[in-house]
Amino acid sequence: MAADNLFPRHGMVKRQHREELNGHRGAVVWFTGLSGSGKTTLAQAVEGQLFLAGCHSYVLDGDHLRQGLCADLGFSAKDRTENIRRAGETAGLLADAGMIVLAAFISPFNADRERVRARMALGDFIEVHCDCPLDVCEQRDVKGLYRRARAGEILQFTAVSAPYEAPLNPELVLDTARLSLSDCTALVLAKLRERAIIAAKPQNL
Ligand code: ADX
Repeated sequence: MAADNLFPRHGMVKRQHREELNGHRGAVVWFTGLSGSGKTTLAQAVEGQLFLAGCHSYVLDGDHLRQGLCADLGFSAKDRTENIRRAGETAGLLADAGMIVLAAFISPFNADRERVRARMALGDFIEVHCDCPLDVCEQRDVKGLYRRARAGEILQFTAVSAPYEAPLNPELVLDTARLSLSDCTALVLAKLRERAIIAAKPQNL
């Protein structure tokens, strides 16, 4: 097995030290939902607010990772599982480095998301379901992908010709069809405060 004969790292600088330096904890906020449900838009809005408050955060998303780290993967169930494994590992490393990671992936399978959760320390994984009905995502069709999926030009398209399993017990469910972007952003930030990932009243927030 590849993991045989490997040894744990014992660096002098621990996660706790990095977090003390940053003034907030590391964590992973995991946005899941259909294509066009607003995951990346919300992740970027939260990142913007955290940046203004002096917090270290970073957005990871499917369209981005699939151009590099995951460029060899497609959209079969097996490839999506591997995509989420790599995304989860990356998110975990960044959280260990003290970042608040804002991960936006369709991540259609419960088991894959639960595997990422299990990799994280208790309380460090916040699952946010961007719960936007298919017909709204399809009406928006920002990238024109639903139209192409319906025309049979894109196969295995989530919620059209591939499954999406809604989270069973997410930390937050946001109806992104009805709530405004600023309301959704505020709810995510409130969850970060409730979990003591950021201070109750960080600067500028
Ligand atoms: S996941 O299912 O493996 O989590 P991921 O979030 O990385 O997907 O990538 C989704 C993005 O890939 C979509 O927002 C869309 O732009 C693009 N995409 C291309 N083909 C598909 C497809 N068959 N199903 C879903 N998204 C697709």
